[in-house]
Amino acid sequence: MRQCVVCRTNISPFMSFGRQPLANGFVTKEQFANEYFFELAVCFCPTCKMVQLAEQPEPQQMFNENYAFFSGTSKYMAEHFRKFAESITQDHLGEPDALVVEIGSNDGIMLQAFKRRGVRHLGIEPSANVAAVAKERGISTLVMFFNADTARRVVAEHGQADAVLGANVMCHIANLHSVAEGLQVLLKPKGVVAFEDPYLGDVIEKTAYDQIYDEHMFLFSATSVGYLFSQYGMELIDAVPQETHGGSMRYLLARRGARVPSPRVAERLHKEFELGLDQPATFEQFRRNCERSREQLVSLLRKCKSDSRRVVGYAATSKSTTVLNYCDISPDLIEFITDTTPIKQGKYSPGKHIPVLPHERFCERYPDYALLLAWNHEKEILANEQEFMKRGGKWIVFVPRVEIR
Ligand code: SAH
Ligand code: TMP
Ligand code: ZN
Repeated sequence: MRQCVVCRTNISPFMSFGRQPLANGFVTKEQFANEYFFELAVCFCPTCKMVQLAEQPEPQQMFNENYAFFSGTSKYMAEHFRKFAESITQDHLGEPDALVVEIGSNDGIMLQAFKRRGVRHLGIEPSANVAAVAKERGISTLVMFFNADTARRVVAEHGQADAVLGANVMCHIANLHSVAEGLQVLLKPKGVVAFEDPYLGDVIEKTAYDQIYDEHMFLFSATSVGYLFSQYGMELIDAVPQETHGGSMRYLLARRGARVPSPRVAERLHKEFELGLDQPATFEQFRRNCERSREQLVSLLRKCKSDSRRVVGYAATSKSTTVLNYCDISPDLIEFITDTTPIKQGKYSPGKHIPVLPHERFCERYPDYALLLAWNHEKEILANEQEFMKRGGKWIVFVPRVEIR
């Protein structure tokens, strides 16, 4: 038995993905013998409705000077963050000398839009290598983990914030209580918190089990986020679906009574009720769907192999680590994975040790099939790979269902 991180109810996993390495833990041959593994299991809390990992590696083990994910690798994401910054500026930064703080600001992909507008900004980013890129771009960045202590330090040095933002970071932080306390400290009385993360509703509807990996400590819903922050004098004032990362939700929160909640909040809570996001049976069904998806993907890849077809993985995403390890996909089924991130190239995928090679290697000799591991970037990738398709190349996808396209 474990206790829910949020409300301390006793909980137990509804599903295990077995032993998994760090999703972003790309390794060299010399590191194979010492690779870190942990049991990736997911629990649902029937009291506060939070979906959470049973166990998460130490934050310093995942987020450090060797962090492999640079936000700027996707042009679509850069555009998404430009729009996010624009909507915050228009709707929430009326006061002169307003301050925007971003948690998990990575290489500064979002804050650069505020910098360009001359808005006072501060990024809080513990991974020193990605933070260094932001600093080179002239974006103020504090290389620290966000928590209540960090929030007090920021307030002492810069004052309270008009907007506190986060993208794909809140769900990474196990100590949500310290985050919520920090937000209480950091936020101006009329300030707004806006953060977005992969959405539980999309994961369930699309059987997108690859959203579950070490860094994603939580899979949020409006129901669970509202519950958590209500304990800290805050309320959900909006919930806006996003297309990014295969289906995300942007949550807006304010101090209770400071803002009038949008009717979208009640609508979303009702949708979540209809989807059964508050019911254990929903997660039992999800587990069965994952098992079926695994069987179908593995048998498809085995068939490709027996037909002597070449299959290459497309994009060494963090998400792909769960799929490759859960489905036990080794280099005998996938020749290599192509990825544009220099720090990943020449290394091997976590756990299954499939070589990660630069994009040129993909174009030099197109395979028969490309397993689309970055299905969330499908639009951008398909636009870039017209030539592969013209030459008869096909995509193998597994979300929302296993198929060849
Ligand atoms: N916001 C960017 C980056 C997401 S990756 C985007 O959406 O593309 C998650 C980032 O959060 C990483 O850069 C990681 O180092 C950072 N992070 C992890 N824990 C954190 C914490 N406690 N406080 C602040 N940032 C954190
Ligand atoms: P993400 O799904 O976590 O955003 O990771 C995206 C990964 O996909 C990152 O390693 C870069 C890689 N990638 C490519 O290799 N080619 C592409 O066209 C895109 C969009 C991403
Ligand atoms: Zn709970």
